[in-house]
Amino acid sequence: MACRLSLMIVLVAAAVAAVAGHNITEMLASSPEYSLYNDALTRTKLADEINSRTTITVLVLPNAVMSSLLAKNPLPVVKNVLSLLVLLDYYDEKKLHDISKGTTLSTTVYQTTGQPEGNLGFVNITDLRGGKVGFGSAAPGSPLDSTFTKSVKQIPYNISVLEVSAPIIAPGVLSAPAPSAADLNITTLLVKAGCKMFADMLASTGVLKTYQSAAAKGLTLFAPSDDAFKGAGVPDFSKLTSAELVSLLEYHAVAEYKPIGSLKTTSGNITTLATSGAGKYGLTVSSAGDAVTLSTGVDSSRISGTVVDDTPLVIFTVDKILLPVELFAATPAPAPSPSSAPSPSPASASAPAPESASAPASVASPPAPPAGPAEAPAASSPEISSNGTSANASSSPLAHAVPRLVLAGSILSALASLL
Ligand SMILES: *[C@@H]1O[C@H](CO)[C@@H](O)[C@H](O)[C@H]1NC(C)=O
Ligand SMILES: *[C@@H]1O[C@H](CO)[C@@H](O)[C@H](O)[C@H]1NC(C)=O
Ligand SMILES: *[C@@H]1O[C@H](CO)[C@@H](O)[C@H](O)[C@H]1NC(C)=O
Ligand SMILES: *[C@@H]1O[C@H](CO)[C@@H](O)[C@H](O)[C@H]1NC(C)=O
Ligand SMILES: *[C@@H]1O[C@H](CO)[C@@H](O)[C@H](O)[C@H]1NC(C)=O
Ligand SMILES: *[C@@H]1O[C@H](CO)[C@@H](O)[C@H](O)[C@H]1NC(C)=O
Ligand SMILES: *[C@@H]1O[C@H](CO)[C@@H](O)[C@H](O)[C@H]1NC(C)=O
Repeated sequence: MACRLSLMIVLVAAAVAAVAGHNITEMLASSPEYSLYNDALTRTKLADEINSRTTITVLVLPNAVMSSLLAKNPLPVVKNVLSLLVLLDYYDEKKLHDISKGTTLSTTVYQTTGQPEGNLGFVNITDLRGGKVGFGSAAPGSPLDSTFTKSVKQIPYNISVLEVSAPIIAPGVLSAPAPSAADLNITTLLVKAGCKMFADMLASTGVLKTYQSAAAKGLTLFAPSDDAFKGAGVPDFSKLTSAELVSLLEYHAVAEYKPIGSLKTTSGNITTLATSGAGKYGLTVSSAGDAVTLSTGVDSSRISGTVVDDTPLVIFTVDKILLPVELFAATPAPAPSPSSAPSPSPASASAPAPESASAPASVASPPAPPAGPAEAPAASSPEISSNGTSANASSSPLAHAVPRLVLAGSILSALASLL
């Protein structure tokens, strides 16, 4: 591996900042009359979105209403409908009845998805005659046909759970269902989002097919923008073997649907499609406010946008190529001497551990800008290198080479057999 970057141990804020103190799944667990709603929150990952926020109101639907919604609509549509029931403000029963002038608009999680036009992601809350409170879409002429039925649970000013009689239907929310994830053309989406170089690499290596077939079961992609390929310190990928290139590209995907709210509630590392064994090709996720950072142990990268979020496929753009420690570690591996190795297994744990202290911070590559306000203090924390992506895990690439090459090879041959 000719391209070696200095190992920059990018430290992660020990406490993930974005997690609020509540767990909606747990709050609803003791109310079996909302079990369908609760299950849908989990499946759509809206539960993570709710848990990552404070000052929030969740309007829940009883099972009878929920079962008809589920029967008539695919999951991405259900997700949109439920997103309209999560208000980004705190309303308990008292506040509902105290609304000034008896009517107000509240924004919802649906508005934050970038899908609705205008104010379609807003909800109208109106104190109706006779003590009833009605909810409806903020779109002009929408009926206020969902009514407050009872208060379920509150953690004052953080989260309120209220039951309503019916979903709030914004115009178009049911009639324009999102295409199924399996039908989305990943190449087209990537090119449109300014990630053409990444898309080209996926196509030329065949990794695109791996992605496309995983998309229906749950897939999260981190696509580096074209600018990321032009940045300073980008290694020369032509020096990688084709198996290594496949691993590099697979490192940019997670075999699970993890929309932004889920990433925000993820602390620590996650496995990628390149992961071939415990601790290999992992990514560490951290967040501060709305900023989500992925650290590889070599470098860190920020999520800069969402290209598509269509349960169970989500594609993000990232501002830097994710460089796994397994391919771009700073410390050169000592050349193994093949003749003197009696063990048939080069991966054996008895391989001498190379000096881990010798990773010098190369002056050639400038340190990454701090990825978020919360990370700055962490960078000075001394206790990090203990585990995960430290120099010592990365300095022995040979130990990981066998499973990785086997995996990459089997993917290549699987691809070859498809062609
Ligand atoms: C929330 O609670 C559920 C059920 O108790 C549990 O499975 C889940 O892991 C919890 N989530 C978090 C983020 O703690
Ligand atoms: C909410 O809807 C009602 C009925 O359409 C309307 O009279 C009221 O002005 C709306 N409230 C707001 C704040 O737009
Ligand atoms: C409300 O949320 C804040 C974090 O935003 C947390 O510090 C506080 O403990 C929470 N309150 C309760 C009662 O859980
Ligand atoms: C995706 O679109 C590209 C052109 O943008 C086309 O060449 C390719 O065949 C399409 N892929 C699929 C799987 O439809
Ligand atoms: C994640 O971190 C834990 C503890 O720090 C470690 O045991 C595990 O091997 C790591 N996994 C990956 C994929 O990096
Ligand atoms: C990793 O480093 C620790 C301390 O720095 C050392 O005790 C351990 O033996 C090293 N492990 C490997 C596999 O190099
Ligand atoms: C690193 O993680 C491994 C696997 O989780 C664990 O066995 C080991 O004790 C950890 N090492 C340190 C120094 O924390």
